Amino acid sequence: MLTGPNVILALKVAVGAVTVLLLLSLLALARGNYRLHGRINLAFFTLTLLALLGFEVIVRMLRPDIFDYIMANPELKQALNIHLCFAVPSAVLMPAMLYTGLTHRRTIHLTLAAIFSSLWLGTFVTGIFFLPHTEVLR
Ligand code: HEM
Repeated sequence: MLTGPNVILALKVAVGAVTVLLLLSLLALARGNYRLHGRINLAFFTLTLLALLGFEVIVRMLRPDIFDYIMANPELKQALNIHLCFAVPSAVLMPAMLYTGLTHRRTIHLTLAAIFSSLWLGTFVTGIFFLPHTEVLR
């Protein structure tokens, strides 16, 4: 059923899955396999983009009212806003990560990597632990 909590649950699973990929890409990096790091992150980028696009289609086109219950609840609204403070900038940085990686602009890639890692950690923690994926009782 296409409900707000179900969409949130699906996103939590998606974020968990791509985070495993990101960690694997760092493992490859630690072993000196830059090429594998790049290949895994190409998958990380593509899957994250697809999840984001699917999500946008649901909440903007199919069911624009799906998160009204969050907007009507000040605590949930704040939790969502804090989550977006991490999620939106990390999504913006992703194409830059891919570009600087593919073109071997190492210093910029590593500088962005530090910022991206903090933003992704924030996205993960605020998304998985602070957004409700069950029916919210009023
Ligand atoms: C989060 C921590 C990350 C660190 C510390 C990191 C670090 C590095 C380093 C040291 C290289 C080698 C650069 C060179 O060849 O001069 C590299 C390459 C690359 N990185 Fe990252 N990276 C990170 C995240 C990402 C992300 C999120 C993406 C994509 C969304 C990405 C995509 C790539 C690509 C495509 C390459 C080129 C691989 C190749 O040579 O075939 N990286 N990264």
